[in-house]
Amino acid sequence: MAFKSQRAAGNVRPTLSDEEILEFCKTGMYTLEGVIPDSTNRWVFEYLDREGADPVQLVRDDRFIEEVLLHPAVTGVVRSLLGEHFQLPEVMGNHRLAGPVEARSWHIDGGSNFERTCELLQVFYIPQTNRPEMGPTLFLPGSHLVPVAREDLERFGDLAGQEMTAAPAGSVFVTAYSLWHRQPRKVDQSTRNLLKWAYWRTEQPERDWITDPNFDFAGADYTYTNDYFSGAARKWQSAPRVAEMFYWLCGRADEFHLVGGAGWPYSSTDPGKRGAAG
Ligand SMILES: [Fe+2]
Repeated sequence: MAFKSQRAAGNVRPTLSDEEILEFCKTGMYTLEGVIPDSTNRWVFEYLDREGADPVQLVRDDRFIEEVLLHPAVTGVVRSLLGEHFQLPEVMGNHRLAGPVEARSWHIDGGSNFERTCELLQVFYIPQTNRPEMGPTLFLPGSHLVPVAREDLERFGDLAGQEMTAAPAGSVFVTAYSLWHRQPRKVDQSTRNLLKWAYWRTEQPERDWITDPNFDFAGADYTYTNDYFSGAARKWQSAPRVAEMFYWLCGRADEFHLVGGAGWPYSSTDPGKRGAAG
């Protein structure tokens, strides 16, 4: 297996718009359903099924780099969120589960800091169709910006608003690093593979995805709500965090100022209160 330079070339085309970048700031996740072709899923699955298969070898494998790590659907999202010349992974894990397995608790991975930046992306790829009984990872959208102590998180059971990654073979889930996640109970006899790696930013953030000249920074809706982050308090809590992350991604972190009280970004969905944008 050849070892390649692990930095993406500068010709990867971004695929996300301003609105989609803002949506990622809100949810901390972007799903690409079934984007990796079956021919790829098949050989990856067969490789992982071999005795002594080492997933780390995949990040050094030309075919895996070409067909998965640099798949245009994946890199379009990664390029949009991490800028040009993002770093490809040097390690890869496989959360392989054989037969029935008990649920794991909610957690965040080591080093999570609920940062309002986007220096890296954690990516999950399923080379086989994941049905609910196979224990597909659960994510809680919007949780990447919500600081919580790990020991508290471990006590949480099922959460309203959680999303299960039951999806067709070849699906890829791009996530903010601090997103809360969990493996639910796996009840069937199958063997399930879940490959996981990270891409890293190497350039300063700038607004160089698919931009809309009419995008309204002052008037955009920065609030986020789902069944977990419901109710006025939680909905409005999200607004400054989401706005700060979005401004950082745009390379405008130094322009981000909270005016306090009910001013921007709380006011941004109320046209009568506009004008206090950071
Ligand atoms: Fe994890």
